[in-house]
Amino acid sequence: MSMILKGKTAIVTGASRGIGEAIARSFAEEGANVVICGRKQETLDAVAAKIPGGSVLPVACHVGRAADIQNLIATATAKFGQVDILVNNAATNIAQEPVLQIDEIKFDKMVEVNLKSAFRLMQAVAPGMCERGWGSIINIASISGLRPQYHGMLYSMTKAALIMMTQSYALELGPKGVRVNAICPGLIQTQLSEYYWKDEEKLANQMRTQPVQHLGQPEEIAGLAVLLASDRGSYITGQAIVADGGRTLASL
Ligand SMILES: NC(=O)c1ccc[n+]([C@@H]2O[C@H](COP(=O)([O-])OP(=O)(O)OC[C@H]3O[C@@H](n4cnc5c(N)ncnc54)[C@H](OP(=O)(O)O)[C@@H]3O)[C@@H](O)[C@H]2O)c1
Repeated sequence: MSMILKGKTAIVTGASRGIGEAIARSFAEEGANVVICGRKQETLDAVAAKIPGGSVLPVACHVGRAADIQNLIATATAKFGQVDILVNNAATNIAQEPVLQIDEIKFDKMVEVNLKSAFRLMQAVAPGMCERGWGSIINIASISGLRPQYHGMLYSMTKAALIMMTQSYALELGPKGVRVNAICPGLIQTQLSEYYWKDEEKLANQMRTQPVQHLGQPEEIAGLAVLLASDRGSYITGQAIVADGGRTLASL
C-alpha cells in the first residue's frame, strides 16, 4: 500500500455494502479519512468496525433528504476539517418496469435519490474544494446511462443525466483544481443487481456477450475510484469511464 490518499478526507455515499463499501475500504487502506453514509446507523457502524485503522466515520444519511445531507457534511467537517474527495455512489432502482407503467411518484423518487443527491452534495462540498485548489468528485453512473436498459427507463435516465452533470461540473471546476469524473460499471455482484446474476441462466446469458468471463466484483470498481481520487489521475477529468468486462463492445 502506498498511502496515496494520506491526509485527504473523503465522503462515500451508499457505503453500507456493495461498491460503496469496497471504495470506502480502499480509500481507508490508502490512508484517507472516510465518512461513510447509508440509511441505517447500525449497518454503517458494522462496516466501520470491519475496516482497520479507525479513520472511518459512519453517519446515517438518506441522500434524498436535504437536511440529512447538511448533517452529513457538517459532521464530516466537524471531525476532519474539510472534504477533499466526494463519491456519489448511493442509488436505488424502484422502477424496473415498462415505460408506460411508470408513474410520477417513482419518477420524482428516482430523480431525488439518484440525481438530486449528487447535485446537493456537489453544491455543498465543491466551493471549499475550489477555494483550496484541490478536489476530486466521482459519480458512480452505469453503462445503463450510456445505453437504455430494457424496462429500466428511470434508472438509465438518472445515470445518463449524472454523466452530463459530471461533464458540466468538470468543465467549470477544472480551472480551480477540481476534477469530476464518472465511473460506469457493468454488471457487478451486489444486492442491487442480484436480479441479473442470482439466476444461473440469466448470468450465463450475460457472460455470453462479455469478453472478460467473470462476474464483476465491487473491488474492481474500487481500484478505479482510487486512481480518480488521487493525484495518479491528475490529468483525467470529465470522463465517464466504463468498467464492464467489455460488455458494451458486444453491440458494436
Ligand atoms: N451492481 C451493479 O451491477 C451496478 C452496475 C452499474 C452501476 N451500479 C451503481 O453502483 C452504485 C452502488 O450500487 P451497488 O451495486 O453497490 O448497490 P447496493 O449493494 O444495493 O448498495 C447500495 C448502497 O446505497 C445505499 N442507499 C440506497 N438508497 C439510499 C438512500 N436513499 N440514502 C443513502 N444511502 C442509500 C445502500 O445503503 P442502505 O440500504 O443501508 O441505505 C447501500 O449502501 C449505484 O450508484 C449503482 O447504480 C451498480
